[in-house]
Amino acid sequence: MRVGVLTGGGDCPGINAVIRGIVRKGVQEYGYELVGFRDGWRGPLEGDVTRLDIPAVRGTLPRGGTILGSSRTDPFQHGETGVRRIRENLAKHEIDALITIGGRNTLGAAARLHEEYGVPCVGVPKTVENDLPATDHTFGFDTAVNIATEAIDRLHTTAESHMRVLVVEVMGRHTGWVAIRSGLAGGANVILIPERPFDLDQVCAWVTSRFKASYAPIVVVAEGAAPVGGDPMPGDDDESDPSGPVPLSGIGEWLAREIERRTGKEARTTVLGHVQRGGTPSAFDRWLATRCGLHAIDCVHDGAYGQMVALRGTELVRVPLAEAKAPLKTVDPALYDEVSVFFG
Ligand code: F6P
Repeated sequence: MRVGVLTGGGDCPGINAVIRGIVRKGVQEYGYELVGFRDGWRGPLEGDVTRLDIPAVRGTLPRGGTILGSSRTDPFQHGETGVRRIRENLAKHEIDALITIGGRNTLGAAARLHEEYGVPCVGVPKTVENDLPATDHTFGFDTAVNIATEAIDRLHTTAESHMRVLVVEVMGRHTGWVAIRSGLAGGANVILIPERPFDLDQVCAWVTSRFKASYAPIVVVAEGAAPVGGDPMPGDDDESDPSGPVPLSGIGEWLAREIERRTGKEARTTVLGHVQRGGTPSAFDRWLATRCGLHAIDCVHDGAYGQMVALRGTELVRVPLAEAKAPLKTVDPALYDEVSVFFG
């Protein structure tokens, strides 16, 4: 049995732990041969493969990024031609099953290839934003939250030395999970998320009241957050665009300028950006990612194609791959209201 593996979409810490889990169990327990496809769906489209044996995954558990490379290539971009090329390349490399590690679009393509063309695919969900509804947690999220929390901790001390407002822009195009978790953990005074358009007057009131208590405010803003009546974030569901989603960085800087203008207090911005996606995964993410890899190769062993692994509570279960395309898991308004007791 030869099993292909690919990683697509934006990278996140923990992907290599998934690959290692797949390879270790696949080789040691099932006697499979593993084959890596490079750069997401570009690999199967162009027949670009790489060795994926136990030596290839040695030392990768704590390593960020993906040893297979990633891209946002859409296999359906060229219609039937793409599907034909994928099938030809899978046949050429004698691939019996394909494990796809990715977000909505990578897994959505796998679901379609399986449903419409019978390609034997298994999925592993991945996103730092933790907004896939099929699974309670995606690996990478915990690491991103820890990085953002540490940054907020550090910003508190410098903000207070200068008594200025520090705005921290974190990842979260459509959902505010990184913002709300890191903001609460880091003791932010304002947390702004895409799900809840914000009132600039209210933000300034919170900022001012924080200064009155002789502390300097930290404002955490998700990259996709917008003011009431502001332009909605440009649609980017099209991860297939090889140039990637529309870069979003900007709300933090805009907010700092507006706060400064309206309150007269000096305000600066820190954009955490890809720092949240790079580097070594947390222990939790290594644990979750490794288990995802072990369960994914079990799916292959059981012939459970068209399925992906998902975390429900503490259990890893199998759910249809098509669930990757379900509407995003957003921050519950009640949860946002719950944490707002710390605002101001
Ligand atoms: O979707 C994950 C994400 O990290 C977003 O938070 C961010 O806007 C986007 O990817 C960045 O994409 P790229 O890696 O193409 O810059």
